[in-house]
Amino acid sequence: MTRSSPKTFHIKSFGCQMNVYDGERMAGLLEGQGMASAASSIEADLVVLNTCHIREKAAEKVYSEIGRLKREDGSRPMIAVAGCVAQAEGAEIPRRAPTVDIVVGPQAYHRLPELIAGAGLGRRGIDTDMPLLSKFGALPARRRPGPTAFLTVQEGCDKFCTYCVVPYTRGAEISRPWSAIVDEARALVDAGAREITLLGQNVNAWEGEDEAGRAQGLDGLIRALDRLHGLERIRYTTSHPNDMTEGLIRAHAEIASLMPFLHLPVQSGSSRILKAMNRSHTADGYLALIDRVRAARPDIAVSGDFIVGFPGETEADFEDTLKIVGAVKYAQAYSFKYSPRPGTPAAGMAGQVPAGAMDERLQRLQALLNEQQLAFNRASVGRRTDVLLERSGKKPGQRIGKTPWLQSVHVETEAPIGEMIRVEIVSAGPNSLGATVIA
Ligand code: 5AD
Ligand code: SF4
Repeated sequence: MTRSSPKTFHIKSFGCQMNVYDGERMAGLLEGQGMASAASSIEADLVVLNTCHIREKAAEKVYSEIGRLKREDGSRPMIAVAGCVAQAEGAEIPRRAPTVDIVVGPQAYHRLPELIAGAGLGRRGIDTDMPLLSKFGALPARRRPGPTAFLTVQEGCDKFCTYCVVPYTRGAEISRPWSAIVDEARALVDAGAREITLLGQNVNAWEGEDEAGRAQGLDGLIRALDRLHGLERIRYTTSHPNDMTEGLIRAHAEIASLMPFLHLPVQSGSSRILKAMNRSHTADGYLALIDRVRAARPDIAVSGDFIVGFPGETEADFEDTLKIVGAVKYAQAYSFKYSPRPGTPAAGMAGQVPAGAMDERLQRLQALLNEQQLAFNRASVGRRTDVLLERSGKKPGQRIGKTPWLQSVHVETEAPIGEMIRVEIVSAGPNSLGATVIA
């Protein structure tokens, strides 16, 4: 069956920030082909589901989303499944969901135009090749970044934590070249971005050579971006404890545009479980690292990821997790129940933890983390700080922005989106702060 080629598209991204970035790059590509972005999937000729495979719940979402794409008259848009589920499940997807026209893995987005043309001719297209980095050069930049933008500098993972699918879905660790990153950052700033978040599954493993051919790590790259006129804030995520170099720690002490925020997942506070997870660091090693980071930048906000109920986790192991949380005092955190993923070593390990115990542990952990987040926010009251305005709030005259510590702030001001304003924090809730403008 042939069908008219799509004129409008809608991209729906799930999962992590890298998917958000990839979604923006795909949008730039499709706009470059003359297609227009539609506000919702109902209005679009082509729907791209940019999927996440990290936990079972996330991976299953794609199938319910596909089911929802039928219109009232029985017709449906052209459907492309992109992202990590596409990579992991490939041809299995159209077997389970025959209305899917295109399956495209995270390293093959640049081939979307061909796949769309093929689908228009009734040819189902599946591309889960992993050519190293070719997609970046082939994708045009986004046209309208907001005041904050993501920039992928590193992709993939060689760490092989035993629970994780990322080494299989995103491939081996690979760093984008220095000049490509600096050029893209400059283009983002020229187009209005004032904050850039450098992205990578192991962003602090980034390595490359500068213009002079000198070996550089993420800290060197950050120093180069710091020199870009008009770029006021630099962030990076996600980091692995073992790649937290002395140079990067020093950068937090020395570079004013590098924001005082560090997302450094530990996953568990039990060194026995960390070993089974193949994390290659201990709980004490992590704590010592946090101490060094805080010595360099005392006000740094630390955020983390946690998994409860990893196979073999006992009540005592879990209590070690509560203990490490108590010692670190997180400003923010994400915590998850362990989800066995096909093909990962942990899925076949003995001692899978019953669902009830996992639920109970997650609740206890989240209660503690929420308490810490509220305490962190409350300690900000009375502080004077800069806020970068990102969007309008619900109330008239209200704007929402972020502090250097990544806290959301509601403030009444006429200042335009994209402006950096000086405020005093006057109130704090679990998820956001209130502030007044300082003249
Ligand atoms: N089950 C539960 N959580 C997981 N994560 C990664 N893999 C799994 C899994 N199989 C979590 C980790 C990681 C975050 C992105 O997702 O905490 O840091
Ligand atoms: Fe999900 Fe991980 Fe893939 Fe991001 S990289 S989309 S979190 S599986």
